[in-house]
Amino acid sequence: MEKIVSLCKRRGFIMQSSEIYGGLNGCWDYGPLGVELKRNLKDFWWRRMVRERDDVVGMDGSILMNRQVWVASGHEATFSDPMVDCRNCKSRLRADQLPEKDGKRQCPVCGSLDLTEPRAFNLMFKTYVGATEDESAVTYLRPETAQAIFVQFKSILEVARKRLPFGIAQVGKAFRNEINPRNFTFRSREFEQMELEYFCRPECGLELLEYWLKERLKFYEDIGICSELLHIHKIPPEECAHYSKGTYDIEFAFPFGVQELEGVAYRTDYDLTQHQKASGKSLEYFDEETKQRFVPHVVEPSAGVDRTVLALICAAYSEEMVADEKGKLETRIVLKFHPRMAPIKCGIFPLLKNNEKLVRQAREIVQILRPHMMVFYDESGAIGRRYRRQDEAGTPFGVTVDFDTIGENGPTNEGTVTVRERDSMKQQRIPIVELKALLLERID
Ligand code: GAP
Repeated sequence: MEKIVSLCKRRGFIMQSSEIYGGLNGCWDYGPLGVELKRNLKDFWWRRMVRERDDVVGMDGSILMNRQVWVASGHEATFSDPMVDCRNCKSRLRADQLPEKDGKRQCPVCGSLDLTEPRAFNLMFKTYVGATEDESAVTYLRPETAQAIFVQFKSILEVARKRLPFGIAQVGKAFRNEINPRNFTFRSREFEQMELEYFCRPECGLELLEYWLKERLKFYEDIGICSELLHIHKIPPEECAHYSKGTYDIEFAFPFGVQELEGVAYRTDYDLTQHQKASGKSLEYFDEETKQRFVPHVVEPSAGVDRTVLALICAAYSEEMVADEKGKLETRIVLKFHPRMAPIKCGIFPLLKNNEKLVRQAREIVQILRPHMMVFYDESGAIGRRYRRQDEAGTPFGVTVDFDTIGENGPTNEGTVTVRERDSMKQQRIPIVELKALLLERID
């Protein structure tokens, strides 16, 4: 994990928020490579979950909502973790994550057994709306994106003119004042979620839970996270939330242990019923065929963007021993991202930077590809070093413009370039006119 954290910082994937002021615990910034990776992930989720389906529409809700939303959803009363204080070193700790010594909970910071009794600590960030800081102005930064979907269910149902089963999807920020943010971005205080609320008839809920579990597992395969790194954890009924009739956690084998990436939960009609009761507004669905009126049930696949980005990086990280141009063995660090997730799709290299023809041709290729994909032009240093730099960034393809390209070795290969594949390091020569189509096919 240390190697991954250091690579993330060194190459500009992820760094501490507010670092020059000592950072802010549980908050992270994504640099140039990280933001591309994250965007590719969110865009692909949106494509799979919304654009490629007839039965799902999207929305983008506000982060601040009426406080009553959080009262009705149960978050104000119960969205908490058990917290204890260490009387010795004053650390604040999550009671359910403590090591034990002789059957007693122990402080992981100083080793003391002198801890307070657990008490509930609400994870929502409280804030005030408007100029007065009194109780009437209190609300919270949303701790999940889902509630915006539930409270807009009726309006979206009407404008989208959908029939059950149908879903509403959303990607956006969520905030939780975690007691112990840890494991890099895994448990953060500010993070992003990708959530779908899929509304259905009560009798279809259990079947759709299985359907969405399969769909979500296929999604992870399609972004390059192989099934061997994933675990499916069926939550035992006694551990499920009281309103859930079935929940699966999709877990990933991180270097720090197997941990949750996504929850797929059958939440029954709990959320809509709560909001219907509290708001006094009907959230029922009218079935034209059977003339029945009822509150729909919901199946919710809820994934974390930051956790999936971290899983993508962990799954992609690899070290190999390879010979350099002089035959000396060196370690090659490669991020073997699936091409559709890779932040940069193609590196473009003129063999020499002081040859005007090579540089001009390489820059022309940049112009051809740039409207269609993220490319990176690099003319400095030995070609081997330039390949290594892109290997570390996870760039799947490298295009080199050499003397054959510009016709200086005869007409046979004029107008062709070499395309190097990151993982096999094999090179093939192809005409420049075929380059765009070849790369677009591979990164789709
Ligand atoms: N609407 C349901 C819901 O929010 P959750 O299991 O609390 O369920 C869903 O959160 C996903 O959000 C998690 O599987 C995880 O990927 C992500 N997530 C939750 N808390 C997080 C945190 N503190 N830091 C990063 N990601 C988090």
